[in-house]
Amino acid sequence: RADEKAVLLEINKLAAKYYYAQLKAPQGKTAYEYLKGRQLGDDTITAFGLGYSNKYSDDLYRYLKTKGYTDDILFKAGLISFDERHGPYDKFWNRVMFPIMDANNRVIGFGGRVMGDAKPKYLNSPETPVFDKSRNLYGLHRARTSRKPYFLLCEGYMDVISLHQAGFTSAVASLGTALTPGHASLIKRYVNEVYLTYDSDEAGTKAALRAVPILKEAGITARVIRMDPYKDPDEFIKNLGAEAFEERIHKARNGFMFSLEMAEKNYDMGSPEGKTDFLKEAAKKLTLFEEEIERSNYIEAVAKTYGVNADDLRKLVTKTAIRDG
Ligand code: UTP
Ligand code: MN
Ligand code: MN
Ligand code: MN
Ligand code: MN
Repeated sequence: RADEKAVLLEINKLAAKYYYAQLKAPQGKTAYEYLKGRQLGDDTITAFGLGYSNKYSDDLYRYLKTKGYTDDILFKAGLISFDERHGPYDKFWNRVMFPIMDANNRVIGFGGRVMGDAKPKYLNSPETPVFDKSRNLYGLHRARTSRKPYFLLCEGYMDVISLHQAGFTSAVASLGTALTPGHASLIKRYVNEVYLTYDSDEAGTKAALRAVPILKEAGITARVIRMDPYKDPDEFIKNLGAEAFEERIHKARNGFMFSLEMAEKNYDMGSPEGKTDFLKEAAKKLTLFEEEIERSNYIEAVAKTYGVNADDLRKLVTKTAIRDG
């Protein structure tokens, strides 16, 4: 219902303001210092509306009750939980708060990070009538006005914020979930190119491999940036700086060639059998290009990269297409 959505957005906005005020108050000192320790400046903290959920387990609940909201609607907003024994309590407490905005700057949900090593590291708002995780991207409210023709798509809150602070203002993140076609069509409203800057661990590599075809399906060109030897864009920028990151953008690999590079690891590329088997897999992947000219261009690129004759590869692809088609 339209009026209910408006109330939920109003509650989220009040909560974001409350968390922000807590961060700046004496009780928010530890959280503020945590953010400073992660090298965020005051401008960045303000730009992303970062906050702190207080130490006591019902601070936000009591504050929102003074505004006259029912328990029911507060529960629906995903900010309050109920416990049979203790009654209502805040979902987020003693966490650094990241408000999640939609493209129109409306607060639709939150992520909250522990300041130590406790689990879970991040808690996120549940899906609500105003928060659809598969159709929103963290950072989009700012990235949409960046003049870059591409988005940098990364994994986490801190990656987006660090990148923006370093001048890469087209960074966005899917909200702790895998990239969906919904995300891809949202991206397509703004840009036709995406640089995937996921974490360098196995999970990040797999996520990038899965994201490439989803982006392609939406008509978006996908390239992949690797963050090694660092864990993620946030750590990369902190250690090597913005210029080195810019260089990685320029050296980004085409999504398809990246997927082949990852496939290489399953073969003994030093032996003729291994390399042949690898090329058979490559041929199979090449059959998936439906457009003649695109397929042909990739056949040439693959042949060149792996030092084989382009015509031989072309024959293999045709044979594979006939066999599998
Ligand atoms: P990461 O584990 O890579 O965390 O999760 P991070 O973003 O690098 O966080 P820092 O640098 O340690 O603060 C990537 C993203 O996955 C989601 C969050 O959106 C996070 O930013 N996530 C992760 C969760 O939702 N819950 C978790 O417990 C962990
Ligand atoms: Mn990760
Ligand atoms: Mn990470
Ligand atoms: Mn990180
Ligand atoms: Mn450039």
